Amino acid sequence: MRGRDQIPQPHLLVVFLSVLLTLATTSYGVNVTYDNRALLIDGKRRVLVSGSIHYPRSTPEMWADLIQKSKDGGLDVIETYVFWNAHEPVQNQYDFEGRYDLVKFIKLVGEAGLYAHLRIGPYVCAEWNYGGFPLWLHSIPGIKFRTDNEPFKVEMQRFTAKIVDMMKQEKLYASQGGPIILSQIENEYGNIDSSYGPAAKSYIKWAASMAVSLDTGVPWVMCQQADAPDPIINTCNGFYCDQFTPNSKNKPKMWTENWSGWFLSFGGAVPYRPVEDLAFAVARFYQLGGTFQNYYMYHGGTNFGRSTGGPFISTSYDYDAPLDEYGLIRQPKWGHLKDLHKSIKLCEEALVATDPVTSSLGQNLEATVYKTGTGLCSAFLANFGTSDKTVNFNGNSYNLPGWSVSILPDCKNVALNTAKINSMTVIPSFVHQSLKGDADSADSRSSSWSWINEPVGISKNDAFMKPGLLEQINTTADKSDYLWYSLSTVIKDNEPLLEDGSQTVLHVESLGHALHAFVNGKLAGSGTGNAGNAKVAVEIPVTLLPGKNTIDLLSLTAGLPNYGAFFDLKGAGITGPVKLKGLENGTTVDLSALQWTYQIGLKGEELGLSSGNSQWVTLPALPTKQPLIWYKTSFNAPAGDDPIAIDFTGMGKGEAWVNGQSIGRYWPTNVSPTSGCSNCNYRGSYSSSKCLKNCGKPSQTLYHVPRSWVESSGNTLVLFEEIGGDPTQIALATKQSAILCSHVSESHPLPVDMWSSNSEAERKAGPVLSLECPFPNQVISSIKFASFGTPRGTCGSFSHGQCRSPRTLSIVQKACIGSKSCSIGASTSTLGDPCRGVAKSLAVEASCA
Ligand code: GAL
Repeated sequence: MRGRDQIPQPHLLVVFLSVLLTLATTSYGVNVTYDNRALLIDGKRRVLVSGSIHYPRSTPEMWADLIQKSKDGGLDVIETYVFWNAHEPVQNQYDFEGRYDLVKFIKLVGEAGLYAHLRIGPYVCAEWNYGGFPLWLHSIPGIKFRTDNEPFKVEMQRFTAKIVDMMKQEKLYASQGGPIILSQIENEYGNIDSSYGPAAKSYIKWAASMAVSLDTGVPWVMCQQADAPDPIINTCNGFYCDQFTPNSKNKPKMWTENWSGWFLSFGGAVPYRPVEDLAFAVARFYQLGGTFQNYYMYHGGTNFGRSTGGPFISTSYDYDAPLDEYGLIRQPKWGHLKDLHKSIKLCEEALVATDPVTSSLGQNLEATVYKTGTGLCSAFLANFGTSDKTVNFNGNSYNLPGWSVSILPDCKNVALNTAKINSMTVIPSFVHQSLKGDADSADSRSSSWSWINEPVGISKNDAFMKPGLLEQINTTADKSDYLWYSLSTVIKDNEPLLEDGSQTVLHVESLGHALHAFVNGKLAGSGTGNAGNAKVAVEIPVTLLPGKNTIDLLSLTAGLPNYGAFFDLKGAGITGPVKLKGLENGTTVDLSALQWTYQIGLKGEELGLSSGNSQWVTLPALPTKQPLIWYKTSFNAPAGDDPIAIDFTGMGKGEAWVNGQSIGRYWPTNVSPTSGCSNCNYRGSYSSSKCLKNCGKPSQTLYHVPRSWVESSGNTLVLFEEIGGDPTQIALATKQSAILCSHVSESHPLPVDMWSSNSEAERKAGPVLSLECPFPNQVISSIKFASFGTPRGTCGSFSHGQCRSPRTLSIVQKACIGSKSCSIGASTSTLGDPCRGVAKSLAVEASCA
């Protein structure tokens, strides 16, 4: 036996070395503060570009790639909300696993060398179920949300402190050497606080001091909160924030939500925001003294499960963000913003060194100069009118397209104009394949499905009776979308009115969000609200029988409200009246106050059918176009790594699970209005309904299935269909980037990468058109169109103009085919001059294989 004093020398050496190693690898905290111009990181003012990625809206397997693509796109910061109801579904029972692994997400941000902005809320809005509040919060006695209410404040503080502690324990604050440089408390309360009376003021003061007391070592922000108490920075949210000023001369001008597009609702058309306008808004913000801007969203992702808010928010949360729902780069949005970020960063030194000086160059024309005594000079020239202008600045002449900003990092040469896009456009497409690769006959397709009928009306043992009509959310606590309201009513022999051709009408009024009415076990009619008005009122002609008739009303929610004062109290479900009209001689019977039987949720939910277990049937023939059926099949994953979607065309409405994981609610029968999609011009103020596509079509047919949720073969797909559909029509699809285009004019600035080029020759060569295949191992396989002169049209539909250089196609083919990427000078020196004195451009369409 050796005593303690006998530790041999080598052990001491190991201890010593490991101490040294620990010292060397411990990252020391940085100091994050702010002044009137910017956030300061270790005493240095910074110009920062940020983007939102919400971790539960993708999978952990996707996170590193999304973060890397954000970094490659020029972001410095990743911003996310923290989703309380995901993390604490049951009071005091926490979930930080899988898609809810917040610590892992923040660590990945740090590992990529990016900063994080943690918006704890814990009210988050975000088109997320109930704005992020857990449902149990609603049932705490005496609670009132988002106001000076003790029970609410206790819970809000507990959760906020829990998250802060967790981040501290993992050393994730910048003050500890981690990536988090900023935190948010509350969310846009200033937009609605007047509804809460004087208690709003004391609540916001409390929230501010509660947050500050948690001592994160980094600044806190409140967005859209003009009265945010010191030291909390009030920040701006909106499509434009260039005119925003913070509430103190000591706070920097920050923009926490620049909406890169907009969210989609079931029943709505698909919103998009042209990148020319988005880039204009960003450039205007940095032009007029802003130093921190965040894209909401940079990656929107998917509302898996029942996580959508609304009601009626779609399962896709694509948002027209620079990274699409599936995590693919959206071009030209991503690329043009990348160029924009580089141009702004070329100005960073001047931007943080001094205050901007803005002067007018004419109507709707503004020059802003950042000039120091030490010789730094950067300038922004803006045209916020809609027509093109030529301006004179410092003795030079500059062409400014309408609604654009030119960025001059040296006060002379243009690095970028927000309306002139050098980045290529990529048009993606979905390639469909059947669920059963080998089964093409209708017979074999249907034989691969099995099913279980969901009973109409009451089927569970925990059903209960209550007189009168119950509000749905209080009743279900959102354990399920579904609540059955059931009743039997006796019709006397002489009551049915069929002889004279008139019918009885079932009248139902509901707070929403949708309902299906069954009479004597048969679907008699349905009704649904919409994003603008969740309420449902239906008048359904019904055929009653003499004697006992059953009325089973299935009421359903489609995402709980997330926005507005008292959104938590809006309620849902059939609150009545429920009446039978047109009984004998037009009499009306009001059923509202009768004894109703209630069932929360479905039998199939209780049985756990979503996992695919249980006894599924395959005989007799597959039922189609019938309501309330659970379907099951298995499928093999499409080969390759392209993102996967399921196309639910042919189905009605329901929810779907892949290998037991919910991919969300599907609703391809909810179609957008036919009008509202007329041509969208990026010039002029954007609003969420300005630019829409997909009018008159289903709002969403394709639903994302994350690659990490599927095996190469033998995957289980389960769906619950409410209305009726034909599951044999369901198909798999993979998202691929099909067509590449670019259109660059002689007056485009040089690629921003070449801005600081010393080579006179390069500078003289003029603008450059570049194409690059989006995926590794791809090369440009064909040039579908190439024209230098006056080509017309847009990507996918270019055509030659009157003026065209005959050599263009062969020059482009030679430069591009067989290569992963290629660049061609968009100038007469490369392509010849087919029409002297005419403004020319080069348009190319290519494909990769
Ligand atoms: C903001 C809110 C965000 C999100 C956004 C719309 O008002 O702060 O959480 O809901 O609107 O997408």
